[in-house]
Amino acid sequence: MSPFDRRKFLKRSALALPGLTALGEVSQRDFAPFEPSGRVFTRPFKEREVNRDFWDDVRDSYALSDARTYMNTGGLGPVSKQVLEAFHQRTVDLQTRSETGHALIETAREPVASFFGASPKEICFTRNATEGNAIVASGLRLDPGDEVIIDASAHPGGAIPWLNQLNLNGLVIRTFEPDASSPEELVARIAALITPKTKVISVSHITAPTGILLPVEAISALAKTHGCWFHIDGAQSAGMIPINLHDIGCDSYATSGHKWLGALHGTGILYIAENGLDRIQPTEIGAYSDAGYSLPRSLTYIDTARRHESGTRNAPLIESVQKACSFLSDIGIGRIQQRGIDLAQRLRNHLQSNTNIEILSPKHDALKTSILTFRSPLMDFSTLNQKLSNDQQFRLRVVTEQELNAIRVSLHIFNTEEGVDRLGEAINAIIPS
Ligand SMILES: Cc1ncc(COP(=O)(O)O)c(C=O)c1O
Repeated sequence: MSPFDRRKFLKRSALALPGLTALGEVSQRDFAPFEPSGRVFTRPFKEREVNRDFWDDVRDSYALSDARTYMNTGGLGPVSKQVLEAFHQRTVDLQTRSETGHALIETAREPVASFFGASPKEICFTRNATEGNAIVASGLRLDPGDEVIIDASAHPGGAIPWLNQLNLNGLVIRTFEPDASSPEELVARIAALITPKTKVISVSHITAPTGILLPVEAISALAKTHGCWFHIDGAQSAGMIPINLHDIGCDSYATSGHKWLGALHGTGILYIAENGLDRIQPTEIGAYSDAGYSLPRSLTYIDTARRHESGTRNAPLIESVQKACSFLSDIGIGRIQQRGIDLAQRLRNHLQSNTNIEILSPKHDALKTSILTFRSPLMDFSTLNQKLSNDQQFRLRVVTEQELNAIRVSLHIFNTEEGVDRLGEAINAIIPS
């Protein structure tokens, strides 16, 4: 039996998880048959001209079902067949030999570091973006009354690690609204909050609710001028836009693998700049975090960000981050960014003349991304989302954060012009101008 035998898999899943199909969340039609990547990848994408066939083949590189139109990569991104197949093969191989495959983690570190413009010593593999944010927030040595500036639209995975320090250590949190009309205004809003007690600036690289791209190079320069630690929550940026962490000059950056990057669920990356490594106390460490220890007297930390990884890990999961970086690099990360912006602009073109629709994502080109968030005064966001999902099979995401009561559309490389046009027409039919 093929390991990807769909029927048997579903039968087993249904038995193992009674009620799953009853909930209507997983049904047989939600699964596409798995095809080996070899049938699709006849030639590397990087050697090809970017045209209609190019994007059609990128779409075919995903096992994502056609039963619904998936536009929620900001929540969770599907993996490409290439990544899925490599993960599957590796898991079968390790399981049949009952080995951890830990050496694979070291093999992955250099290519992943290079994808982010970092050095391998600066990369730590986490389970998600939240974990990376929490390692930084709980590890920095801060005193009661010290101030941290964060964006008001920080995701709970970015905000709660800092709020925890408010509870535990009396940190003071100051917030700024990132919905400025220009990058300059955005930086000025942060600058206005800096006081002699400000020790950290932590921002979403791209905000989750409305997809604002923050000018991180300028914020980094501002943080340096004031001697502040600069942390970036990159859950929405890794895999959507080109990133060179050394050029940005931040002190730390945390991201998920399971969104725009297209790695398996439960993957993440934390970058800590080499010269900042010792400023973050290793709060939760263990086997593999050390460069030597002797009971009961001494412990020396390994001199890389790897000190924050510990214990037995799922090596094929971590390897999927490397495979995902390689898949996106083949397509070209600059092309990926442009594709998302073009698709979001296409949707904007459908919606912007509708007087009953308000687009919340930024108008300024330098702040635009692959995310478009909108709402209507005529219809409650959850009713509108239900109509689009139940009647038209779109998978979008409602935005209740900051009481925006809106709908977020995330457009990645497997999305198509046709899908965007269908969505734009469906919204305009439900909400007439
Ligand atoms: C900006 C931001 N930070 C953190 C997270 C949490 O990500 P994870 O589930 O990988 O911890 C998200 C998830 O949507 C996010 O958008």
